[in-house]
Amino acid sequence: MKQTPETVILIDCGCDGIQKLARAVRDKQIYTMVIPCTAPVERVMAENPVGLVFVSGGNEARLADAQAKFAAVGLPKFTAAGLDDACKVTEFCINECKCSGNWKMETFIEEAVADIRAQVGDQTVVLGLSGGVDSSVAAALIHRAIGDRLSCVFVNHGLLRKNEAEMVQEIFARNFNMNLVYVDASDRFLDKLAGVTDPEQKRKIIGKEFIDVFAEAAEKTKAPFLGQGTIYPDIIESIPFDGDPKSVIKSHHNVGGLPENLKFKLVEPLERLFKDEVRKVGKLLGLPSELLDRHPFPGPSLGVRNVGPISRETLKILREADAIVTEELIKADWYHKTWQTFAVFVPVRSVGMKNHKRTYDYVIAIRSINTVDAVTAEVVQLPWELLFKMSERIIAEVDGVNRVVYDITQKPPGTIEWE
Ligand code: XMP
Repeated sequence: MKQTPETVILIDCGCDGIQKLARAVRDKQIYTMVIPCTAPVERVMAENPVGLVFVSGGNEARLADAQAKFAAVGLPKFTAAGLDDACKVTEFCINECKCSGNWKMETFIEEAVADIRAQVGDQTVVLGLSGGVDSSVAAALIHRAIGDRLSCVFVNHGLLRKNEAEMVQEIFARNFNMNLVYVDASDRFLDKLAGVTDPEQKRKIIGKEFIDVFAEAAEKTKAPFLGQGTIYPDIIESIPFDGDPKSVIKSHHNVGGLPENLKFKLVEPLERLFKDEVRKVGKLLGLPSELLDRHPFPGPSLGVRNVGPISRETLKILREADAIVTEELIKADWYHKTWQTFAVFVPVRSVGMKNHKRTYDYVIAIRSINTVDAVTAEVVQLPWELLFKMSERIIAEVDGVNRVVYDITQKPPGTIEWE
């Protein structure tokens, strides 16, 4: 039987930004989940809640319908007008629902370890490690529970950042002594991508190839369980507000989503957590900050930052330029002040001068943005000196580049990634 924390359900009656309310309540160490008011009563009761909060979005009829639907449920209930009611909600949880306020990441780890052991028994788990926060923390947690009965597969698709493959192996195989299957599939990916310029086509090729390579490696482990770093926002974002209530029962859309026909049973120990909670768990499990506090990175990796045809030569240029951007950002103490900062390879050549000789080389664009949820984003006004330093170093140290530009496009109308 899966252990459930004391749960208060926020019933979403159309309130924008209700996740912020959920975060505020969780900060008081009270576990809460958001479920849309269109969900069946049984779906809500399946979470074994200790109280219900109806969160109004201003539509009185919808709120009244939701209250009527749960009228027969004998639990403490409260109606919140919106985000401003965070304090009153918290008080309701403590006074009426008698929550003890014990939702702590230390306790979460203990419970998750017990759950994983109960679910997996004496069998084995395979997990695709990307080097991103979610899959890394999931790996560390499952490893804590079942040790070397976990095998991780790390696929090098040839689109990784500089030293990334080494870093991931260093952290997991060497420091954690974890079973890590390293698959160097770069040739396979780069051959398939050769000559492809269309961004969607690139994404499709990378996604499909990734699944094939991972599935081959995973099947060799013969593990019946697949570990995944699905987190809470992955699940809520896939719950439609209006629509077929049956689909409210979660449908996963984890990045690089694996096909249904892989006959694995899923182990998803982070599915209750927000991103910052995932980071806390990772820290408690001993993962280093260089991994936990990294900027988000797209699944198709440098593939969507290499505009135009991808080749080994252009990727090398991009990788080197990207490493310089990151290094200088860290040195100048700006890394943690930006959400994402990176280099983009622009397949345009222009004329320049290097060592008194004419050059005709490529362009690197630098992009730096801040955002709350990646839906809209603002360009960061990085200090001029820092941008100059990045530019100087890229042109001096990266063969094939003679011009650096700064991308000052907001989102919208631009997207964060160029492709
Ligand atoms: P855009 O470019 O859509 O990016 O403004 C928004 C955020 O999502 C990241 N991104 C991706 N992440 N797979 C991912 O896992 C992808 O295919 C992908 N495309 C974009 C992007 O880096 C930014 O943080």
